[in-house]
Amino acid sequence: LNVPKRFLCPSAHVVPETVVRVDLQDGPSIAIYNLDGSYFATDNLCTHGDASLAEGVVDGDTIMCPFHGGTFDIRTGEATGPPCIVPLRTYPVTLEDGQLFAEVE
Ligand code: FES
Repeated sequence: LNVPKRFLCPSAHVVPETVVRVDLQDGPSIAIYNLDGSYFATDNLCTHGDASLAEGVVDGDTIMCPFHGGTFDIRTGEATGPPCIVPLRTYPVTLEDGQLFAEVE
């Protein structure tokens, strides 16, 4: 199974402990994180409602939704705090020559 790699943004745009939103053409809106120099990507849309997680707050390995304060594990997408129950979709990220790519179907 070959999942296409999609360009996200230069890695320099994602400074540690922040979250950056990239809207893929013909694809989902992605939230990109930098945890201690490792990059992670999840769906940007909260699984609880119509909220952009890139407007939320990064706290350690957790992203907190700006709408109702639900939380997810950035590394696994697991819903870790109410009212969120459904996990976030996550995407493997690779770094090549300072550019971030994600495997997005
Ligand atoms: S929309 Fe994200 S916690 Fe409700």
